[in-house]
Amino acid sequence: MDYIFAQGNGRVITGKDKIFGVSQLAKAAIAEHGRENVTNATIGALLDDNGDLIVLSSMVDVLKEMSPAEFAEYAPIAGVPAYREILPQAAFGDFRPDGYIETCATPGGTGTIRNTISCFSAYGDTVLTSNWFWSPYNIIASEIGRKLDTYEMFNDQDGLNIEGIEKKILEILENQDSIVVIFNAPAHNPTGYTPADAEWDELVAMIKRVAAGGKKITFLLDIAYIDFAGDSVKAREFLPKFGNMPDNVLIIAGFSASKGFTFYGLRTGGMLCVTPRKDIADEFGRVTSFASRGSWSNCTRVGQLALAKVFNDDALLKKVFDERKALEKLLADRCQAFKDASAAAGLRTCPFSAGFFVTIPCDNDDAVNEELFKDNIFGIAIGGGIRIAISAITEDACRMVPGKIAEAIRKVNG
Ligand SMILES: Cc1ncc(COP(=O)(O)O)c(C=O)c1O
Repeated sequence: MDYIFAQGNGRVITGKDKIFGVSQLAKAAIAEHGRENVTNATIGALLDDNGDLIVLSSMVDVLKEMSPAEFAEYAPIAGVPAYREILPQAAFGDFRPDGYIETCATPGGTGTIRNTISCFSAYGDTVLTSNWFWSPYNIIASEIGRKLDTYEMFNDQDGLNIEGIEKKILEILENQDSIVVIFNAPAHNPTGYTPADAEWDELVAMIKRVAAGGKKITFLLDIAYIDFAGDSVKAREFLPKFGNMPDNVLIIAGFSASKGFTFYGLRTGGMLCVTPRKDIADEFGRVTSFASRGSWSNCTRVGQLALAKVFNDDALLKKVFDERKALEKLLADRCQAFKDASAAAGLRTCPFSAGFFVTIPCDNDDAVNEELFKDNIFGIAIGGGIRIAISAITEDACRMVPGKIAEAIRKVNG
């Protein structure tokens, strides 16, 4: 790729942002045919049945009570102390893994991914994630001089391919002293997959097995969707399995308030480490703070204060959780409708159980997606499949879309 003035530094910029491009097409279709005749399944946010962004009114009330100084003042680099105190509860709930926990505020879950790669891998290192992944992982890794490699996420039985993950980790560790693995669950983006309880056990056993080789493993649990992974309490039950790891394993959880508290634009998140060693936790605090200073400096103060306020007030917290419960149901109903309609249409999807997205694997995904445009259905072709944001479409649309995708795949691929 040629640059005029900028230094390329290995950036591969593939023209206009794909999601942005398709969402522009969807907007044009809405202008032409009306909102009710267009399915815009491109948006990674929870929308109501009219296509409007859902914002938790309980969180809005908290924000409205903030004083100008609370909005305007800088936050400390590692986060407002009251926010850092509630971060373990916000991320882990009642399922805190055993170990020393240290925290650092980050601008959304994205900041955690950036800081984890920057602080726990070396320049030129390979970072590992699944073959279905949120594309910014690759952008973040390459922006700071790392490479991203992937393992096949699912085995032949549509379960988690733990054997494949282990093989790939060992392969990478032949050339590196340490590895960062990014594991997005529950309610993985883009597939909606959540490992079964036994799979979590096998995953933890595999990490311990690999760690026995002596090299350092940083395992980032990207839990950005944990509050919309079905029941948000049950969704956290697996977390204690990640306690009591060997001391050459560092667990990092990436908390995001973007989805769970509808704070998307307030850029509020945090990273939490779990380690059996206090000195490693202390170092985590120092190094992540330094890395933050050298990138975004501090994070939005008001988002942190709002969360601290909510988690320190039982009545307020209940109000937020109650309001969210209704949204969990909205999403669960859409999810079930999509599942039933896929089964009826004989459409093979990636295994899914919850979350904002469903992925339909197919050949020629760009052509299949374009075929869907003719029916005013707009998803994202993500390379090897189509991603449908069930978070952004109605239950009725979830019933209609699978049949249309099956038809489009038949038309394009025969
Ligand atoms: C897989 C995944 N991880 C992390 C994030 C972090 O998002 P944010 O930085 O908005 O909190 C997202 C947001 O879409 C995501 O899809």
